Amino acid sequence: MATPRTVAIDGPAGAGKSTIGALVAERLGYTFLDTGAMYRAVALAALRRGIDPDDGPRLTELARQLRIAIGPPTVRDGRAYTVLLDGADVTWDIRSPEVDRIVSQAARVPFVRDVMVEQQRAIADRGRIVMVGRDIGTVVLPNAERKVFLTASAAERARRREEELAARGEKRTRQDLLAEILRRDELDSKRTVAPLRAADDAIVVETDGLSVREALDRVLQVIERRPIPS
Ligand code: DC
Repeated sequence: MATPRTVAIDGPAGAGKSTIGALVAERLGYTFLDTGAMYRAVALAALRRGIDPDDGPRLTELARQLRIAIGPPTVRDGRAYTVLLDGADVTWDIRSPEVDRIVSQAARVPFVRDVMVEQQRAIADRGRIVMVGRDIGTVVLPNAERKVFLTASAAERARRREEELAARGEKRTRQDLLAEILRRDELDSKRTVAPLRAADDAIVVETDGLSVREALDRVLQVIERRPIPS
């Protein structure tokens, strides 16, 4: 197959972008960048410094100062990648319920996005990358050779999130998780800057009822430009 230099995978929270994106990158031997982790790192730093997630100017200043590095796993504890914030490992801290709660607010600050997008483009410039997020195909890499919009119903995404948390020994009710997913969908898709939406040239892959393997196969079909069975 003709290998694309850049693969953009977008979609709502819990659609399986990180899991599928990491597997696609592994299969192709590409770098994997989960851009959500960058916004999460900013949100975590804001929490730790007591910065209000709606305080745009302070968040922007913070985003400019932080050193966020995402690379291959440094510990074998189920992580798909390691996230360093100013040199400290925050891979699991950025997944806390507190971060979940405020990350969409931090991610809607336009200048915070500018800082992140600039870093994301610099990483993509090196080529051979699978980048996942909300606005990769629309804003960050509008010229990406392959664009996938991975999605699933809110109920399915809440179910997956419950399983994922349970596997880490954390218990949250499905109802609570569903409410949070719907709230984040709303914030992510209604914001004025770079809202969550499929790029016009993205191929939509619905993953309800599909196993990870089946979803991975569909995404690889898109990347390899094989016909997708209906
Ligand atoms: O994919 P995730 O749940 O880890 O993303 C965390 C938040 O970051 C999510 O609420 C939306 C935001 N985000 C974004 O605005 N743009 C991206 N490219 C990636 C994530």
